Amino acid sequence: MIGIIGAMQVEVESLKEIMKSVKIEKVSGVDFYIGDLCGIQAVVAVSGVGKVNAAVCAEAMILKYAPEYIINIGVAGGLAEGIKVGDVVIAESVVEHDMDTSPIGDPVGLISGINLINIPCSAGLIDGLFKSASAVDGISAVKGVIASGDQFISSDKQRIFIKDTFKASAAEMEGASIGHVCYLNNVDFCVLRAISDCADGESPMSFAEFTQFAVKNSIKIILDFLENTNK
Ligand code: ADE
Repeated sequence: MIGIIGAMQVEVESLKEIMKSVKIEKVSGVDFYIGDLCGIQAVVAVSGVGKVNAAVCAEAMILKYAPEYIINIGVAGGLAEGIKVGDVVIAESVVEHDMDTSPIGDPVGLISGINLINIPCSAGLIDGLFKSASAVDGISAVKGVIASGDQFISSDKQRIFIKDTFKASAAEMEGASIGHVCYLNNVDFCVLRAISDCADGESPMSFAEFTQFAVKNSIKIILDFLENTNK
């Protein structure tokens, strides 16, 4: 069994549509779709937006279905120089950009308990997803840091802080909390995000206009990845 989580329905709906022999179970308020995806037994869920929703979903998924790994897919705001709408970022590590106990002497972003700023993604998943991204025509993909926090990033101040503090290539609202839960449970994970906006003053408009378009790129990559996993 493998696990796939999207924050919003639009981010995973086409996977649910092609799943075969689907069974739906509700756990902790989340609908889990269990079935056959490209010949692999998979559980797919929409977590809801933000770190707590994503953490609850990941924890419930792990405890109930024991997935071999979890991939978080969807869209993100681009931070890296030259990154544009439709490009894809595959996380080498994830950070919680709104974690800040620096007033009591910690480095910004240090996650209490696990004592890490960057939570590393699984090397095998990074490589496999990057190979698939390179194999899909017309998609430009980079590996990098993905930063998550409970904020939709839409100002220069927020964008520059996250980019400079964490050397992050993209910002979104769930990946690092899913990574945090996977790390605690010793489950492999990775985050794959397609850029819907550039996390600037234009991002609310760009997000609304380009999310559907960007989502298609993360879906194409995950399908190629699953098909190759199954060969
Ligand atoms: N997801 C897509 N775009 C985003 C942004 N600008 N900030 C946070 N999450 C996002």
